[in-house]
Amino acid sequence: MLYLKPRIDPLTQSVLDDGALLGRLVDGLGSPLNVVLPQRVGANVAAFRDAYRRHRLNGRIYFAHKANRSSALLRQFAATEAGVDVASVGELQHALGAGFTPDRIMATGPKTREYLWLAARTGVIVNADSPAELSELASLVAAFRLPRARAMVRLSRFQSSGVRVQSRRSRFGFPAGSLTETLDLLGKHGDHVELVGVAYHLDTVELREKAVALEGCLAALDECRARGLRPWSLDIGGGFGVNYLADAGEWERYTSELAQAVLGNRPPMTWGGHGYGLRAESGTLRGSLALYPAHRPVAGADYLDKLLGTDAPDRRRPLGELLLDHMYDLDVEPGRALLDQCGLTVARVLEVRDDGDDVLVRLDCNARDVSLEEHGVLMDPVLVPRLRVPKEEPAADRSEGVFLLGNLCLESDLITRRKVHLPRRPQAGDLLAFVNTAGYLMDFTATDALLAPQGRKVAIHRTGDGAWSWHLDENYWPIHSQPEVS
Ligand SMILES: Cc1ncc(COP(=O)(O)O)c(C=O)c1O
Repeated sequence: MLYLKPRIDPLTQSVLDDGALLGRLVDGLGSPLNVVLPQRVGANVAAFRDAYRRHRLNGRIYFAHKANRSSALLRQFAATEAGVDVASVGELQHALGAGFTPDRIMATGPKTREYLWLAARTGVIVNADSPAELSELASLVAAFRLPRARAMVRLSRFQSSGVRVQSRRSRFGFPAGSLTETLDLLGKHGDHVELVGVAYHLDTVELREKAVALEGCLAALDECRARGLRPWSLDIGGGFGVNYLADAGEWERYTSELAQAVLGNRPPMTWGGHGYGLRAESGTLRGSLALYPAHRPVAGADYLDKLLGTDAPDRRRPLGELLLDHMYDLDVEPGRALLDQCGLTVARVLEVRDDGDDVLVRLDCNARDVSLEEHGVLMDPVLVPRLRVPKEEPAADRSEGVFLLGNLCLESDLITRRKVHLPRRPQAGDLLAFVNTAGYLMDFTATDALLAPQGRKVAIHRTGDGAWSWHLDENYWPIHSQPEVS
Protein backbone atom coordinates (compact mmCIF):
# COMPACT_ATOMS: atom_id res chain seq x y z
CA MET A 1 0.00 0.00 0.00
CA LEU A 2 1.40 3.38 -0.93
CA TYR A 3 0.99 5.12 2.40
CA LEU A 4 2.62 8.45 3.15
CA LYS A 5 2.10 8.46 6.89
CA PRO A 6 2.51 11.90 8.46
CA ARG A 7 4.93 12.58 11.31
CA ILE A 8 2.78 13.28 14.36
CA ASP A 9 4.08 14.55 17.70
CA PRO A 10 2.44 13.55 21.01
CA LEU A 11 0.45 16.78 21.39
CA THR A 12 -1.11 16.50 17.93
CA GLN A 13 -1.70 12.78 18.50
CA SER A 14 -3.58 13.48 21.71
CA VAL A 15 -5.88 15.86 19.81
CA LEU A 16 -6.50 13.19 17.15
CA ASP A 17 -7.24 10.63 19.84
CA ASP A 18 -10.14 12.77 21.03
CA GLY A 19 -12.53 12.27 18.11
CA ALA A 20 -15.45 13.32 20.29
CA LEU A 21 -13.88 16.73 20.97
CA LEU A 22 -13.03 17.28 17.30
CA GLY A 23 -16.54 16.18 16.36
CA ARG A 24 -18.16 18.66 18.73
CA LEU A 25 -15.93 21.47 17.49
CA VAL A 26 -16.71 20.73 13.84
CA ASP A 27 -20.43 20.47 14.65
CA GLY A 28 -20.34 23.83 16.35
CA LEU A 29 -17.92 25.77 14.19
CA GLY A 30 -18.24 24.11 10.79
CA SER A 31 -16.07 22.21 8.36
CA PRO A 32 -13.24 22.72 7.63
CA LEU A 33 -11.97 23.61 11.04
CA ASN A 34 -8.43 24.81 11.64
CA VAL A 35 -7.11 23.78 15.01
CA VAL A 36 -4.02 25.65 16.22
CA LEU A 37 -1.84 24.49 19.10
CA PRO A 38 -0.13 27.47 20.76
CA GLN A 39 1.41 25.19 23.40
CA ARG A 40 3.81 23.83 20.81
CA VAL A 41 5.27 27.20 19.81
CA GLY A 42 7.74 27.57 22.70
CA ALA A 43 9.47 24.25 22.00
CA ASN A 44 10.05 25.22 18.36
CA VAL A 45 11.64 28.54 19.31
CA ALA A 46 13.77 26.76 21.93
CA ALA A 47 15.06 24.27 19.33
CA PHE A 48 16.34 27.15 17.18
CA ARG A 49 17.94 28.80 20.22
CA ASP A 50 19.74 25.52 21.00
CA ALA A 51 21.26 25.57 17.51
CA TYR A 52 22.52 29.12 18.18
CA ARG A 53 24.05 27.95 21.47
CA ARG A 54 25.85 25.07 19.81
CA HIS A 55 27.63 27.63 17.62
CA ARG A 56 27.94 30.24 20.40
CA LEU A 57 26.07 32.79 18.33
CA ASN A 58 23.67 35.57 19.27
CA GLY A 59 20.86 37.09 17.29
CA ARG A 60 17.13 37.12 16.86
CA ILE A 61 14.76 34.36 15.75
CA TYR A 62 12.00 36.15 13.79
CA PHE A 63 8.83 34.13 13.16
CA ALA A 64 7.78 34.69 9.51
CA HIS A 65 4.15 35.67 10.04
CA LYS A 66 3.10 34.99 6.45
CA ALA A 67 3.02 31.25 7.11
CA ASN A 68 -0.21 31.56 9.14
CA ARG A 69 -2.75 34.32 9.81
CA SER A 70 -3.59 33.05 13.31
CA SER A 71 -3.75 35.62 16.11
CA ALA A 72 -3.42 32.92 18.75
CA LEU A 73 -0.13 31.62 17.34
CA LEU A 74 1.22 35.14 16.80
CA ARG A 75 0.39 36.15 20.37
CA GLN A 76 1.99 32.98 21.66
CA PHE A 77 5.19 33.83 19.75
CA ALA A 78 5.04 37.28 21.35
CA ALA A 79 5.09 35.51 24.72
CA THR A 80 8.41 33.83 23.83
CA GLU A 81 11.76 35.46 23.10
CA ALA A 82 11.04 35.37 19.34
CA GLY A 83 10.66 38.39 17.12
CA VAL A 84 8.41 38.53 14.07
CA ASP A 85 9.07 39.05 10.38
CA VAL A 86 6.13 40.89 8.86
CA ALA A 87 5.59 41.18 5.12
CA SER A 88 2.74 43.69 4.76
CA VAL A 89 1.24 46.67 6.53
CA GLY A 90 -1.56 44.37 7.76
CA GLU A 91 0.91 41.94 9.29
CA LEU A 92 2.81 44.83 10.90
CA GLN A 93 -0.38 46.10 12.55
CA HIS A 94 -1.24 42.56 13.62
CA ALA A 95 2.20 42.09 15.20
CA LEU A 96 2.06 45.39 17.06
CA GLY A 97 -1.39 44.45 18.37
CA ALA A 98 -0.20 40.99 19.42
CA GLY A 99 2.31 42.49 21.82
CA PHE A 100 5.53 42.68 19.83
CA THR A 101 7.50 45.81 20.62
CA PRO A 102 9.12 47.42 17.54
CA ASP A 103 12.61 46.24 18.50
CA ARG A 104 11.34 42.67 17.92
CA ILE A 105 9.88 43.32 14.46
CA MET A 106 11.52 43.07 11.05
CA ALA A 107 9.63 44.47 8.04
CA THR A 108 10.29 42.44 4.89
CA GLY A 109 8.43 41.91 1.61
CA PRO A 110 7.38 44.38 -1.09
CA LYS A 111 6.58 47.70 0.60
CA THR A 112 3.95 50.35 0.04
CA ARG A 113 4.42 53.92 1.30
CA GLU A 114 1.91 53.22 4.06
CA TYR A 115 3.88 50.15 5.18
CA LEU A 116 7.17 52.08 5.08
CA TRP A 117 5.69 54.97 7.04
CA LEU A 118 4.29 52.75 9.82
CA ALA A 119 7.58 50.84 10.00
CA ALA A 120 9.61 54.04 10.24
CA ARG A 121 7.15 55.68 12.63
CA THR A 122 7.25 52.74 15.04
CA GLY A 123 11.00 52.14 14.59
CA VAL A 124 10.98 48.54 13.33
CA ILE A 125 13.89 47.38 11.18
CA VAL A 126 13.13 47.79 7.49
CA ASN A 127 14.62 45.00 5.40
CA ALA A 128 14.89 46.85 2.08
CA ASP A 129 14.42 44.97 -1.17
CA SER A 130 15.48 47.57 -3.71
CA PRO A 131 17.14 50.97 -4.13
CA ALA A 132 13.70 52.55 -4.68
CA GLU A 133 12.44 51.24 -1.32
CA LEU A 134 15.50 52.55 0.48
CA SER A 135 15.14 55.99 -1.11
CA GLU A 136 11.42 56.10 -0.35
CA LEU A 137 12.11 55.20 3.27
CA ALA A 138 14.68 58.00 3.53
CA SER A 139 12.30 60.53 1.97
CA LEU A 140 9.49 59.59 4.40
CA VAL A 141 11.85 59.89 7.36
CA ALA A 142 12.88 63.35 6.14
CA ALA A 143 9.36 64.53 5.29
CA PHE A 144 7.85 63.45 8.63
CA ARG A 145 10.95 64.34 10.68
CA LEU A 146 11.14 60.79 12.01
CA PRO A 147 14.09 59.35 13.90
CA ARG A 148 16.74 57.76 11.66
CA ALA A 149 15.27 54.49 10.37
CA ARG A 150 17.11 51.23 11.00
CA ALA A 151 17.52 49.29 7.77
CA MET A 152 18.93 46.10 6.38
CA VAL A 153 19.62 45.52 2.73
CA ARG A 154 18.56 42.24 1.23
CA LEU A 155 21.10 40.95 -1.27
CA SER A 156 20.60 38.42 -4.04
CA ARG A 157 22.35 36.86 -7.04
CA PHE A 158 25.41 35.67 -5.15
CA GLN A 159 28.26 33.89 -6.87
CA SER A 160 31.21 32.11 -5.34
CA SER A 161 34.62 32.32 -6.97
CA GLY A 162 35.73 28.82 -5.94
CA VAL A 163 32.99 26.24 -6.50
CA ARG A 164 30.64 27.19 -9.26
CA VAL A 165 27.43 27.66 -7.35
CA GLN A 166 25.24 30.51 -8.35
CA SER A 167 22.11 31.48 -6.44
CA ARG A 168 18.90 31.30 -8.42
CA ARG A 169 17.26 34.38 -9.84
CA SER A 170 15.08 36.30 -7.40
CA ARG A 171 12.75 39.23 -7.95
CA PHE A 172 13.89 40.57 -4.58
CA GLY A 173 17.07 42.14 -3.33
CA PHE A 174 20.00 44.32 -4.35
CA PRO A 175 22.40 42.43 -6.65
CA ALA A 176 25.34 41.32 -4.50
CA GLY A 177 27.61 42.26 -7.40
CA SER A 178 26.66 45.95 -7.22
CA LEU A 179 27.37 46.52 -3.55
CA THR A 180 29.42 49.65 -4.30
CA GLU A 181 26.35 51.40 -5.75
CA THR A 182 24.24 50.20 -2.81
CA LEU A 183 26.74 51.62 -0.34
CA ASP A 184 26.84 54.90 -2.27
CA LEU A 185 23.06 55.09 -1.91
CA LEU A 186 23.26 54.35 1.82
CA GLY A 187 25.91 57.08 2.11
CA LYS A 188 23.59 59.53 0.36
CA HIS A 189 20.75 58.73 2.78
CA GLY A 190 22.99 58.44 5.84
CA ASP A 191 21.16 61.22 7.75
CA HIS A 192 17.87 59.34 7.52
CA VAL A 193 18.78 55.66 7.36
CA GLU A 194 21.18 53.65 9.47
CA LEU A 195 22.44 50.33 8.06
CA VAL A 196 22.20 47.64 10.74
CA GLY A 197 22.91 44.59 8.62
CA VAL A 198 22.63 42.67 5.38
CA ALA A 199 20.23 39.87 4.54
CA TYR A 200 19.26 37.14 2.14
CA HIS A 201 16.32 34.79 1.81
CA LEU A 202 16.54 31.97 -0.70
CA ASP A 203 13.55 29.90 -1.64
CA THR A 204 15.46 26.63 -1.82
CA VAL A 205 16.37 23.64 0.31
CA GLU A 206 19.85 23.57 -1.29
CA LEU A 207 22.47 23.91 1.44
CA ARG A 208 25.31 24.83 -0.92
CA GLU A 209 23.38 27.73 -2.39
CA LYS A 210 22.73 29.04 1.09
CA ALA A 211 26.38 28.65 2.05
CA VAL A 212 27.36 30.77 -0.96
CA ALA A 213 24.80 33.42 -0.01
CA LEU A 214 25.89 33.47 3.63
CA GLU A 215 29.52 33.87 2.67
CA GLY A 216 28.51 36.56 0.17
CA CYS A 217 26.81 38.47 3.00
CA LEU A 218 29.92 38.14 5.17
CA ALA A 219 31.97 39.66 2.36
CA ALA A 220 29.40 42.44 2.00
CA LEU A 221 29.60 43.19 5.74
CA ASP A 222 33.40 43.43 5.43
CA GLU A 223 32.99 45.92 2.61
CA CYS A 224 30.48 47.98 4.62
CA ARG A 225 33.00 48.21 7.45
CA ALA A 226 35.76 49.19 5.05
CA ARG A 227 33.51 52.07 3.99
CA GLY A 228 33.08 53.22 7.60
CA LEU A 229 29.61 51.78 8.18
CA ARG A 230 29.00 49.73 11.32
CA PRO A 231 26.41 47.02 10.56
CA TRP A 232 26.33 44.24 13.13
CA SER A 233 23.85 41.70 11.90
CA LEU A 234 23.43 39.09 9.17
CA ASP A 235 19.89 37.91 8.43
CA ILE A 236 19.69 34.60 6.59
CA GLY A 237 15.90 34.57 6.11
CA GLY A 238 13.81 31.41 6.35
CA GLY A 239 13.57 28.14 4.46
CA PHE A 240 14.74 25.68 7.15
CA GLY A 241 11.91 23.33 6.31
CA VAL A 242 9.79 20.69 7.97
CA ASN A 243 9.89 16.92 7.86
CA TYR A 244 6.27 15.97 7.15
CA LEU A 245 6.57 12.19 6.90
CA ALA A 246 7.17 9.48 9.47
CA ASP A 247 8.95 7.09 7.17
CA ALA A 248 11.74 7.73 4.65
CA GLY A 249 11.11 4.36 2.97
CA GLU A 250 7.48 5.22 2.20
CA TRP A 251 8.53 8.47 0.53
CA GLU A 252 11.21 6.78 -1.56
CA ARG A 253 8.86 4.01 -2.57
CA TYR A 254 6.07 6.44 -3.42
CA THR A 255 8.24 8.62 -5.65
CA SER A 256 9.78 5.70 -7.50
CA GLU A 257 6.36 4.09 -8.03
CA LEU A 258 5.07 7.44 -9.30
CA ALA A 259 7.81 7.44 -11.92
CA GLN A 260 6.75 3.92 -12.93
CA ALA A 261 3.11 5.02 -13.16
CA VAL A 262 4.06 7.99 -15.38
CA LEU A 263 5.96 5.56 -17.63
CA GLY A 264 2.88 3.36 -17.80
CA ASN A 265 4.57 0.44 -16.04
CA ARG A 266 1.94 0.29 -13.30
CA PRO A 267 -1.65 1.53 -12.84
CA PRO A 268 -2.04 5.30 -12.42
CA MET A 269 -1.62 6.69 -8.90
CA THR A 270 -3.10 10.10 -9.60
CA TRP A 271 -6.21 11.77 -10.99
CA GLY A 272 -5.93 11.88 -14.78
CA GLY A 273 -2.42 10.45 -14.63
CA HIS A 274 -1.02 13.70 -13.21
CA GLY A 275 2.77 13.36 -12.93
CA TYR A 276 3.73 16.09 -10.45
CA GLY A 277 6.26 17.44 -12.91
CA LEU A 278 7.24 14.08 -14.43
CA ARG A 279 6.21 13.04 -17.92
CA ALA A 280 6.94 10.20 -20.32
CA GLU A 281 8.42 10.93 -23.72
CA SER A 282 8.80 7.89 -26.01
CA GLY A 283 9.23 5.60 -23.04
CA THR A 284 11.74 7.87 -21.27
CA LEU A 285 11.06 9.76 -18.06
CA ARG A 286 11.40 13.54 -18.46
CA GLY A 287 10.89 16.58 -16.23
CA SER A 288 11.56 16.75 -12.52
CA LEU A 289 9.47 16.13 -9.45
CA ALA A 290 7.81 19.44 -8.55
CA LEU A 291 7.08 18.48 -4.97
CA TYR A 292 8.16 19.56 -1.52
CA PRO A 293 10.65 16.97 -0.24
CA ALA A 294 8.11 15.72 2.28
CA HIS A 295 10.56 13.46 4.06
CA ARG A 296 13.47 15.60 5.24
CA PRO A 297 15.91 13.91 7.59
CA VAL A 298 17.47 17.29 8.41
CA ALA A 299 14.96 20.11 8.82
CA GLY A 300 14.15 23.10 11.00
CA ALA A 301 16.70 23.91 13.70
CA ASP A 302 18.82 20.91 12.63
CA TYR A 303 19.10 22.42 9.16
CA LEU A 304 20.34 25.69 10.68
CA ASP A 305 22.87 23.72 12.73
CA LYS A 306 24.06 21.95 9.60
CA LEU A 307 24.35 25.18 7.62
CA LEU A 308 26.41 26.82 10.37
CA GLY A 309 28.69 23.78 10.44
CA THR A 310 29.16 23.89 6.65
CA ASP A 311 32.40 25.29 5.28
CA ALA A 312 32.22 28.61 3.49
CA PRO A 313 32.94 27.69 -0.16
CA ASP A 314 35.76 30.23 -0.58
CA ARG A 315 37.15 30.74 2.94
CA ARG A 316 36.94 26.99 3.71
CA ARG A 317 35.95 27.42 7.35
CA PRO A 318 32.60 26.68 8.99
CA LEU A 319 30.18 29.55 8.46
CA GLY A 320 29.26 29.58 12.17
CA GLU A 321 32.92 30.13 13.07
CA LEU A 322 33.25 33.00 10.62
CA LEU A 323 30.19 34.69 12.12
CA LEU A 324 31.60 34.21 15.60
CA ASP A 325 35.03 35.60 14.61
CA HIS A 326 33.38 38.82 13.47
CA MET A 327 30.96 38.86 16.41
CA TYR A 328 28.08 39.45 14.02
CA ASP A 329 24.55 38.71 15.17
CA LEU A 330 22.80 36.00 13.19
CA ASP A 331 19.11 36.62 12.48
CA VAL A 332 16.76 34.00 11.06
CA GLU A 333 13.18 34.24 9.76
CA PRO A 334 11.70 30.74 9.85
CA GLY A 335 8.00 30.45 9.02
CA ARG A 336 7.20 26.83 8.24
CA ALA A 337 9.80 25.42 10.66
CA LEU A 338 8.56 27.41 13.65
CA LEU A 339 5.03 26.16 12.97
CA ASP A 340 6.02 22.49 12.86
CA GLN A 341 3.26 20.49 14.62
CA CYS A 342 1.40 23.69 15.60
CA GLY A 343 -1.91 22.92 13.95
CA LEU A 344 -4.17 20.65 11.94
CA THR A 345 -7.17 21.01 9.65
CA VAL A 346 -10.22 18.84 10.13
CA ALA A 347 -12.88 18.25 7.47
CA ARG A 348 -16.13 16.31 7.46
CA VAL A 349 -16.74 13.47 4.99
CA LEU A 350 -19.92 14.29 3.08
CA GLU A 351 -20.19 11.36 0.70
CA VAL A 352 -18.38 8.18 -0.30
CA ARG A 353 -19.11 6.59 -3.66
CA ASP A 354 -17.70 4.01 -6.05
CA ASP A 355 -16.75 5.17 -9.51
CA GLY A 356 -15.59 2.20 -11.56
CA ASP A 357 -12.53 0.92 -9.76
CA ASP A 358 -12.10 4.13 -7.84
CA VAL A 359 -13.60 5.30 -4.57
CA LEU A 360 -14.46 8.99 -4.40
CA VAL A 361 -14.66 10.72 -1.03
CA ARG A 362 -16.26 14.17 -1.02
CA LEU A 363 -15.19 16.43 1.82
CA ASP A 364 -16.66 19.61 3.23
CA CYS A 365 -13.55 21.64 2.44
CA ASN A 366 -11.66 22.52 -0.70
CA ALA A 367 -8.15 22.54 -2.09
CA ARG A 368 -7.68 26.17 -1.04
CA ASP A 369 -8.57 25.37 2.56
CA VAL A 370 -5.97 22.62 2.77
CA SER A 371 -3.42 23.69 0.20
CA LEU A 372 -1.41 20.49 -0.03
CA GLU A 373 -1.46 20.58 -3.82
CA GLU A 374 -0.58 24.26 -4.12
CA HIS A 375 2.45 23.74 -1.89
CA GLY A 376 3.37 20.33 -3.26
CA VAL A 377 3.19 18.56 0.08
CA LEU A 378 2.10 14.93 -0.10
CA MET A 379 0.99 13.29 3.15
CA ASP A 380 -1.97 11.16 4.15
CA PRO A 381 -4.83 12.50 6.21
CA VAL A 382 -5.78 10.76 9.44
CA LEU A 383 -9.21 9.19 9.65
CA VAL A 384 -10.94 10.26 12.85
CA PRO A 385 -13.98 8.02 13.35
CA ARG A 386 -17.11 9.59 14.78
CA LEU A 387 -19.59 6.87 14.00
CA ARG A 388 -19.07 3.35 15.18
CA VAL A 389 -17.96 1.19 12.24
CA PRO A 390 -20.34 -1.77 11.77
CA LYS A 391 -18.58 -5.12 12.14
CA GLU A 392 -19.53 -6.31 8.66
CA GLU A 393 -17.89 -3.28 7.00
CA PRO A 394 -14.91 -4.56 4.97
CA ALA A 395 -11.71 -3.59 6.75
CA ALA A 396 -10.44 -0.81 4.64
CA ASP A 397 -8.16 -2.09 2.48
CA ARG A 398 -8.72 -1.11 -1.08
CA SER A 399 -5.33 -1.17 -2.61
CA GLU A 400 -6.45 1.34 -5.22
CA GLY A 401 -7.00 3.97 -2.52
CA VAL A 402 -9.47 6.84 -2.60
CA PHE A 403 -9.60 10.25 -4.24
CA LEU A 404 -10.44 13.21 -2.00
CA LEU A 405 -12.80 15.65 -3.72
CA GLY A 406 -13.41 19.22 -2.54
CA ASN A 407 -16.67 21.14 -2.05
CA LEU A 408 -16.26 23.64 -4.92
CA CYS A 409 -18.15 23.35 -8.19
CA LEU A 410 -14.87 22.97 -10.08
CA GLU A 411 -13.44 19.92 -11.85
CA SER A 412 -10.02 20.82 -10.51
CA ASP A 413 -11.07 20.93 -6.86
CA LEU A 414 -9.32 17.86 -5.53
CA ILE A 415 -7.74 18.11 -2.08
CA THR A 416 -4.95 16.04 -3.52
CA ARG A 417 -4.57 14.70 -7.03
CA ARG A 418 -3.03 11.48 -5.81
CA LYS A 419 -4.91 8.47 -4.55
CA VAL A 420 -4.79 8.34 -0.81
CA HIS A 421 -4.71 5.12 1.15
CA LEU A 422 -6.71 5.12 4.35
CA PRO A 423 -6.81 2.38 6.97
CA ARG A 424 -10.46 1.72 6.10
CA ARG A 425 -13.14 3.00 3.78
CA PRO A 426 -14.49 6.22 5.30
CA GLN A 427 -18.19 6.88 5.88
CA ALA A 428 -20.24 10.05 5.64
CA GLY A 429 -19.91 11.81 8.99
CA ASP A 430 -16.33 10.69 9.63
CA LEU A 431 -13.72 13.34 10.03
CA LEU A 432 -10.47 13.50 8.11
CA ALA A 433 -7.65 15.38 9.81
CA PHE A 434 -4.78 16.86 7.80
CA VAL A 435 -2.00 17.23 10.34
CA ASN A 436 0.84 19.72 10.47
CA THR A 437 -0.96 22.27 8.31
CA ALA A 438 -0.08 25.38 10.36
CA GLY A 439 2.82 26.37 8.07
CA TYR A 440 1.25 27.63 4.80
CA LEU A 441 -1.16 24.69 4.34
CA MET A 442 -3.94 26.04 6.58
CA ASP A 443 -4.92 29.51 5.42
CA PHE A 444 -2.36 30.81 2.95
CA THR A 445 -4.62 30.30 -0.05
CA ALA A 446 -8.03 30.10 1.69
CA THR A 447 -10.73 32.19 -0.02
CA ASP A 448 -14.49 32.34 0.12
CA ALA A 449 -14.88 31.60 -3.59
CA LEU A 450 -18.43 30.49 -4.43
CA LEU A 451 -19.39 31.88 -1.02
CA ALA A 452 -18.10 28.71 0.59
CA PRO A 453 -17.02 30.03 4.00
CA GLN A 454 -13.37 29.88 5.00
CA GLY A 455 -12.59 27.50 7.83
CA ARG A 456 -12.81 28.94 11.34
CA LYS A 457 -9.78 28.76 13.57
CA VAL A 458 -9.80 27.50 17.08
CA ALA A 459 -6.91 27.45 19.54
CA ILE A 460 -6.94 24.42 21.80
CA HIS A 461 -4.72 23.71 24.74
CA ARG A 462 -4.41 21.31 27.61
CA THR A 463 -5.22 22.63 31.03
CA GLY A 464 -3.36 21.61 34.22
CA ASP A 465 -5.76 18.70 34.85
CA GLY A 466 -5.17 17.26 31.37
CA ALA A 467 -8.52 18.35 29.91
CA TRP A 468 -8.78 20.32 26.66
CA SER A 469 -9.82 23.94 26.65
CA TRP A 470 -10.51 25.95 23.52
CA HIS A 471 -10.95 29.54 22.36
CA LEU A 472 -11.83 31.04 19.02
CA ASP A 473 -8.49 32.07 17.52
CA GLU A 474 -9.23 35.79 17.87
CA ASN A 475 -10.10 35.37 21.55
CA TYR A 476 -7.02 33.43 22.59
CA TRP A 477 -4.23 35.14 24.55
CA PRO A 478 -1.14 33.50 26.08
CA ILE A 479 -2.57 33.89 29.59
CA HIS A 480 -5.02 31.13 28.70
CA SER A 481 -2.53 28.28 28.55
CA GLN A 482 0.70 26.99 29.98
CA PRO A 483 3.60 26.02 27.70
CA GLU A 484 3.72 22.35 26.75
CA VAL A 485 5.63 20.25 29.25
CA SER A 486 7.46 17.48 27.48
C1 LIG B 1 11.84 37.21 3.31
C2 LIG B 1 11.30 35.92 3.82
N1 LIG B 1 11.67 35.50 5.06
C3 LIG B 1 11.21 34.34 5.57
C4 LIG B 1 10.34 33.53 4.86
C5 LIG B 1 9.86 32.26 5.49
O1 LIG B 1 10.28 31.13 4.82
P1 LIG B 1 9.97 29.68 5.43
O2 LIG B 1 8.56 29.66 5.85
O3 LIG B 1 10.28 28.75 4.32
O4 LIG B 1 10.90 29.49 6.60
C6 LIG B 1 9.94 33.91 3.57
C7 LIG B 1 9.03 33.06 2.79
O5 LIG B 1 8.61 33.35 1.72
C8 LIG B 1 10.42 35.15 3.04
O6 LIG B 1 10.06 35.56 1.82
